[in-house]
Amino acid sequence: MLIIFKELTKIFEQSLLDNLEKNNKKSEFENLRKNLITQSSKENFGDYQCNVCLSLSKIYKKNPREISSDFVNLLHENKRISELCRSLEIAGPGFINIKLKDDVLINEIKSNIQCQRAGVPLIKKNLNNGLSNKVIVDFSSPNIAKEMHVGHLRSTIIGDSISRIFELRGYEVLRLNHVGDWGTQFGMLITQLKDLYSNDLKEIEKIKISDLVEFYKASKKRFDNESEFQKRSREEVVKLQSGDSKSIQAWKLLCDQSRKEFDEIYKNLNIKINERGESFYNPFLKSVIEELNFQKILVEDQGAKCVFLEGMTNKEGKPFPLIIQKKDGGFNYATTDLAAIRYRFNKDPDGDNASRIIYVTDHGQANHFAGVFQVAKRAKWIPDNCQLDHVPFGLVQGIDGKKLKTREGETIRLKDLLKEAVRRAKDDLLKRLENENRYETEEFIARTSRVIGLGAVKYADLSQNRITNYQFSFDKMLSLNGNTAPYLLYTLVRISGIKRKNDLVYDSKDFQSINYEHQSEWKLIRKLLKFDEVIISIEKDLMPNRLCNYLFELCQTFNRFYDQVPILKEENKKVSRLNLCDLTAKILRLSLELLGIETLERM
Ligand code: ARG
Repeated sequence: MLIIFKELTKIFEQSLLDNLEKNNKKSEFENLRKNLITQSSKENFGDYQCNVCLSLSKIYKKNPREISSDFVNLLHENKRISELCRSLEIAGPGFINIKLKDDVLINEIKSNIQCQRAGVPLIKKNLNNGLSNKVIVDFSSPNIAKEMHVGHLRSTIIGDSISRIFELRGYEVLRLNHVGDWGTQFGMLITQLKDLYSNDLKEIEKIKISDLVEFYKASKKRFDNESEFQKRSREEVVKLQSGDSKSIQAWKLLCDQSRKEFDEIYKNLNIKINERGESFYNPFLKSVIEELNFQKILVEDQGAKCVFLEGMTNKEGKPFPLIIQKKDGGFNYATTDLAAIRYRFNKDPDGDNASRIIYVTDHGQANHFAGVFQVAKRAKWIPDNCQLDHVPFGLVQGIDGKKLKTREGETIRLKDLLKEAVRRAKDDLLKRLENENRYETEEFIARTSRVIGLGAVKYADLSQNRITNYQFSFDKMLSLNGNTAPYLLYTLVRISGIKRKNDLVYDSKDFQSINYEHQSEWKLIRKLLKFDEVIISIEKDLMPNRLCNYLFELCQTFNRFYDQVPILKEENKKVSRLNLCDLTAKILRLSLELLGIETLERM
């Protein structure tokens, strides 16, 4: 109902302005127009509400109810108000509750039934301020030769969903995997490689990633304990950076090995992402230093080159430095991120021409990004109206509130975690089949448990307010009750079931006969019409859990409707009600797709 919401907002703004002018308080307008009308705090109150008269009462020093009644009279002078609203009701100390007319809602429902995106508007081809409509989502981003862990899983799931939401809106989305494929650790890895495989680098193809992780640990141990090994590792870094062909070959092999393992997980989770690792930005690092230097932002401190951050201080009140070049001349994680920002906003062929960049990492990197964004801003690398967002998320914990571990106390491998989810979903399914005396094919069982298991893991992650830590519980996420993927999938299956029973093909476009009277029909209609507003709010604030909460409420509202009104039995109501079923199913399918979750016809 975004269009109606916007139109109402305009009308309210005009009346507010008129009212302020009459009272010689026009200067207050900009402040008061913010959130002028909002969603109703309670569904029964109406569709929207406006609380501005309370603020006006403080400014005019008058009774708010008196002001409300003036304001409502003024609103009624606009004839669109009577066309759109059934009532503008003054309540409590002076709130205005806005209730829309039934035929306005029905028209919206009809238009959403016909719309592929269930009412979500597409962005304009040319954005107003001349910006490109390209959005970069930097997510997943594991590190080469290290195992992908649950933090990377969260980033992958959240980043994929955010990307899908922007894609639905019509943005051009560049999904970037900023893998850690560069840095001093490669010195020790390559040295270890050369030692163990006596310079026969072809052998490395036989190493599997689980070995590569062991391999990482072993070389780290040597690096920490053997000074001679450390020395050779340092020399190896220089060789690699100067482009020595043998070192590059070894580096590539290490990357390839890791990539294979990462790709397997992406394939399993149906994630599309383009690898563009840290190494990609190597050629641009030097000029980052030069430009910061030229702009006089760079400071030399104890041999290192850094930028002192404004407003970010340590315990002694000293500003934190963002180190751009280490004492030994090496570059940092932050240097690469600065080069990446410049490249991604750059309009030249040597750049992406993005207008918004979104980073999805754990909360632990919040300071890193705050620092990097500040330096980019001071260096004027963020073009006007362009935007940088860090999307932080909390830790994944076991049900005991501690870090997620196996029973043996080992860190859980992602692969194993996903396998376990599918295995448990299969157990549940088999039990259900037995109880219901149902027979299903192997193929059905395999697909259903895969969709439920993987869907449950993704949904558990997305439905949390991402900023808080969340407790990983297979039992909770696989439950058919509550805010879970199985509950949503089940509601969708229920709708498919109704449609299968309705053997008479119905003409969904037979809008002539559409009419609603039951309270639970109207509740469902109002919920269905909120979909576009939810999507737009996520585009702004990047909180996919809002979509999950909405879907949970939608399913609850649908299931109440299903329990309270017969859908197929009353011949003259059938088309009206089947249309609501169809729109619910469409929104569910579309949304689950936005969350990266496959759907089922039966389960
Ligand atoms: N590789 C990093 C990690 O594992 C995440 C990179 C996030 N992206 C970025 N542009 N810094 O923590």
